Amino acid sequence: MNRTEGRVKVTGLATYAAEYPVENVAYAYVVQAQIAKGRVKRVDATSALELPGVLAVLSCEAAPRLAEDADPELALFQSREVAYRGQIVAAVVAETHEIAREAAAHVRVDYDADDHDVSLSSDHPGLYQPEVVNPNFPSDTEKGDVEAGLTAAAAAVDVTYETPVLHNNPMEPHAALALWDTEGRLLVYDTAQGTTGSRALIAGTLGLPEDQVRVVSRHVGGGFGSKGTTRPQAILAALAARMVGRPVKIALTRQQMFDVTGYRTPTIQRLRIGVDAEGRLTALEHVAYEQSSTLVEFAEQTTVPARVMYGAPALRTGHRLVRLDVATPSWMRAPGECPGMYALESAMDELAYAAGLDPVELRVRNDPETEPDSGLPFSSRNLVGCLREGAHRFGWEHRDPEPGVRREGEWLVGTGVASSTYPARRSPCKAVATMQNGGDVLVQVAAADIGTGARTVLRKIAAGTLGLDPERVHVELGDSDLPEAPVAGGSMGTASWGSAVVRACEELLRDGKEGRADTTDEVKADSELARHAFGAQFAEVRVSAVTGEVRVSRLLGVFAAGHIMDAKLARSQFLGGMTMGMGMALMEETLTDEEFGGFLHRDLAQYHVPACADAQHVEAYWLDEQDGELNPMGSKGIGEIGIVGTAAAIGNAVFHATGHRFRDLPITPAKVL
Ligand code: MOS
Repeated sequence: MNRTEGRVKVTGLATYAAEYPVENVAYAYVVQAQIAKGRVKRVDATSALELPGVLAVLSCEAAPRLAEDADPELALFQSREVAYRGQIVAAVVAETHEIAREAAAHVRVDYDADDHDVSLSSDHPGLYQPEVVNPNFPSDTEKGDVEAGLTAAAAAVDVTYETPVLHNNPMEPHAALALWDTEGRLLVYDTAQGTTGSRALIAGTLGLPEDQVRVVSRHVGGGFGSKGTTRPQAILAALAARMVGRPVKIALTRQQMFDVTGYRTPTIQRLRIGVDAEGRLTALEHVAYEQSSTLVEFAEQTTVPARVMYGAPALRTGHRLVRLDVATPSWMRAPGECPGMYALESAMDELAYAAGLDPVELRVRNDPETEPDSGLPFSSRNLVGCLREGAHRFGWEHRDPEPGVRREGEWLVGTGVASSTYPARRSPCKAVATMQNGGDVLVQVAAADIGTGARTVLRKIAAGTLGLDPERVHVELGDSDLPEAPVAGGSMGTASWGSAVVRACEELLRDGKEGRADTTDEVKADSELARHAFGAQFAEVRVSAVTGEVRVSRLLGVFAAGHIMDAKLARSQFLGGMTMGMGMALMEETLTDEEFGGFLHRDLAQYHVPACADAQHVEAYWLDEQDGELNPMGSKGIGEIGIVGTAAAIGNAVFHATGHRFRDLPITPAKVL
């Protein structure tokens, strides 16, 4: 199907958070900490307040109180403590965005600075084992005797990989518009991956009852996780609007976005894997070192995919975290799976070479019967099918494994493979379907369409259930006044919202006028099974011996992600994920400023992402799975699996091309030469 909102988007008629026309609106602009750790000694707003058009300056010396238990990243102006460089310490509200920005430069903030520490290392004295990692997994697991398995192995690897800080770069930077009505009800137009959760968080932070807050987010220009939780712009807009008694709008710049809307933690990952003479794993150990802020413990589940992927009699996984003077890391497309599978799938490639085995064959031989860590049966698992289908489509059978021997002029040519995986979850959701005059059906659910095509696929799901032409179905989403729905995240949007839409439509068929659904009981009753999507990615790269540039001349993915709901939407999701994985492999990196704290890369001139010219040969295919253990649609999520494994497939291809193993991303020309 074509996107329901495609036309309004490409003609500029779709309204995003910062674009709602509102009478008498004022604009806010943030002032950010210039030290990495310490305290705000004094805020002098005198000269800022003297500028014509300036309405107010908010800071720890002048701001309303927020809830005591507010998330520290959202508790704006509640403390003098500075936890990281770039943290919001003040804000100016003015008649225009330009005046606010000018005045922000006039706000003088004096600090007491302390020594800071922003450097992750695998021997940092502050490292500790978190109790759980996101969303709620044990930090460490162990079964069997890893040391004995490694000792007995016919071949083994002991390798360490590093991934940098990565930043979600949605096309639409974070923005919010807040309006208080005369009864003290707050309306926030926000860039949010979910309005139900955002309403709860905004209300909780401001100390308001939830029914006093409404969050509207009709169109979102991408999020990738950075809009999965409420960000400071929403709280700031609400605070500022209350202070000046007018609607207040704030649009973060991309540079500010790098500081205050989350990022993917850097990781250092050590893998030890052994294999016997038959190519079966004897032991697998995967330990990740990662960071969080001093404010909040955010522990990325980096080694959790190693609990899912391959069978080994001995399996040990773990996470070590250090709290640094940095912003709190957050979700970025396939948090955990993406960096974790980069390292695991690179190590599997190294192991294949060490054992003299084809890397596809090594993976096939170690495909487990049940989920290795839990022992649970899989609802469906078609990794081997994806590897075989991908190998066939890619032409893998003709591959000469010898690295560094194919050259076409200045270009060294190589190919690589890696597996993908992502959990297939769903969450409780509500929906309403109503018969309208004329026989059209209105479906309402507080889902979010962040560019994925949620409106479109929900229309298709409703139409399919009702036996109606999709043209007759209208979907309303993106508003916390609609039936409560989970976030567009964790690749579970369609599975969660779709389940509720199917049930509401079934009820409408019975009732004739209206159908209401709440899937809480249904989701709770889901049987205990290991539910994951799988995939295989194949890359061909050309590496210039002159410039060190790596070009991806072919990237091919085959995914097994349940029933594919719509071919066009699904293909876009897979291609988008794979392209983002290409960026991770070759370009994307945010350097931390060790001397002053904060980040050195803070815009798209410095933080490079693939352009169309980089991604001309990306192909996505799928095996249509029949899995009755998932949800009424039989679908698995597809938003994140496309980025999982891509960087490893490309890195493995670079090794095959050059004979050199690059173990820290991104693989830039400077490293290659
Ligand atoms: Mo996605 S990182 O689960 O929003």
